[in-house]
Parts: sequence; structure tokens; C-alpha cells
Amino acid sequence: MKIVVIGGTGLIGSKLVSKLREHGHEAAAAAPNTGVNTLTGEGLAEVLKGASVVVDVSNSPSWEDAAVLKFFETSTRNLLAYEAAAGVGHHVALSVVGTDRLSESGYFRAKIAQEKLIKESSISYTIVHATQFFEFLKGLADISVVDGKVHLPPVLFQPMAANDVACALVRVAVGEPVNGIVEIAGPEQFRLDELVRRRLASLKDLREVIADPNALYSGAKLTERTLVPGNNARLGEMRFETWLSQSAATGVAA
Ligand SMILES: NC(=O)c1ccc[n+]([C@@H]2O[C@H](COP(=O)([O-])OP(=O)(O)OC[C@H]3O[C@@H](n4cnc5c(N)ncnc54)[C@H](OP(=O)(O)O)[C@@H]3O)[C@@H](O)[C@H]2O)c1
Repeated sequence: MKIVVIGGTGLIGSKLVSKLREHGHEAAAAAPNTGVNTLTGEGLAEVLKGASVVVDVSNSPSWEDAAVLKFFETSTRNLLAYEAAAGVGHHVALSVVGTDRLSESGYFRAKIAQEKLIKESSISYTIVHATQFFEFLKGLADISVVDGKVHLPPVLFQPMAANDVACALVRVAVGEPVNGIVEIAGPEQFRLDELVRRRLASLKDLREVIADPNALYSGAKLTERTLVPGNNARLGEMRFETWLSQSAATGVAA
């Protein structure tokens, strides 16, 4: 089966392309540096020729409110139009658990807009809602700094390894479209501030992490369960401590 991975050179996309090839599929990694740009439409008709499934794991280079909205709206519109013309049968997109509860955030308003376009299109789809990636914990600290300290609310948090995200996407991509949302998450729950503190300590990053109930996440106020999935989420296998020791051993940066 030919499967096109939009954002196939990124963190999740590169793992997904390798896994699909290991499973014997023809996987095409589509991104600007492979000649495919979803914002302009460049290369889309060519790469989609003969494709049965498209998995969109692209991300906007800028997370500024207007730029990220423009990215997800324009690229999703283009992608769906080219997919319809090419006869693609299943559009899979990666989004975030709790997206619909995070509309105070410009980034999440853009993800909501992306999901709306997918739901309204004529193409069968599966939207995969993942929790935050372990690999994103340092980035999360970086966007949560106030006066040199990391401010995060001590809410429930159930992140997962990027590798488990890619494994789950393989199963979804080769399966039937659900025309709805599938939730995936890590195997353990933590407090958000606690886990970021542990990640920064492992990186010998000396920034203090403050448990601040009023701190915003990507511009949005969180409640106890905003970031955690419902009871039917498919859980990944990798535990945080195992991931931490493996990433220390392999020297993989956050
Ligand atoms: N971070 C988290 O914790 C988290 C949690 C749940 C879901 N997600 C979702 O996961 C998705 C992927 O995240 P990621 O961290 O794997 O992203 P990433 O590593 O930043 O990769 C983004 C990919 O998108 C490509 N791209 C950028 N502009 C493009 C364009 N105009 N046309 C085609 N491709 C383009 C990039 O290509 P170049 O490198 O060539 O620019 C790259 O391959 C995002 O949609 C995000 O919302 C993230």
C-alpha cells in the first residue's frame, strides 16, 4: 500500500516512515526538503499519485497565533483538495488530546480549525489525539518561562514516547478509517510540573520549576483533567524512566 507521510522528515514523521517500510509498505516522506510543500501545493499532485492513505504529521514552523492558524488552514485545505483529486481513501491526522478544551490558545485554535476542515471534507478520516511527547518536555519548559523560572500548573499529565506515537499511527494508517477521533497516551500519569522538573534535572538544566495553579499552557488555562485522555485511550508501552535512561544512553537531545 502506498502511504504518504506529510511532515515525513520530522520527529514523528521520520519514525513513522521507517516503521511503515519495515511493515512492507511504500512510504513517501513528504516535506519541503523532499520537494513537497502543503502551503503552496508544490509537489502534492506527484507524491499523491497512487496513494491509498495520507498521514499528516506536519507542524507549523511558527507558533505565533496568526501564522499557525494560516499554516494549518491553508495546508489542510490544499492537502484535502489534492487528496480528493488523487482518489486517496483515508486521511489520518495527528492532533492533541484535549484540543477542543484548549481554545484559549492560538496554537490549539489552529488545531481545531485543522480538525474542522477534515471532518467537513468528503474524504474518510481518522484524527489521532496524542498526549504530549516525552521529547517535548524541554520545549514545554522553554515556552513556560516567566522571569527566568518555569511556571506550570500541577495538573494531571500522561505523556508518551514519540516512538509509541509512531507505532500507534502505523496501526491507524493500515486500518479502516473511523471517521472520528482515536486517543493515545502514555502508560503512567504524573503531575505536569513534576515531570518537567524531572526532565530538566536529567538535562542538568538548572531552571527552577514552580507549581503555579494559574500558569498557562500555550496560552490556555488548564483544569485538573484538560490534558488527560478518556478511558478508551490506547496506551503506549514506554515508561518515562525507561525513556529517560535510553535517551541518556543514546545521547538523543530533547
Ligand atoms: N509536541 C507534542 O507533544 C505533540 C503532542 C501531540 C500531537 N502533536 C502534533 O504532532 C504533529 C507533529 O509534531 P512533530 O513534533 O513531529 O513535528 P516536527 O518534528 O516539527 O516536524 C514537522 C514536519 O512538518 C514539515 N513541514 C513544515 N512545513 C511544511 C510544509 N509547508 N509542507 C509540508 N511539510 C511541512 C517539516 O518539514 P521540514 O523539517 O522540512 O520543515 C517536518 O517534517 C503536530 O501536528 C503536532 O500538533 C504534538
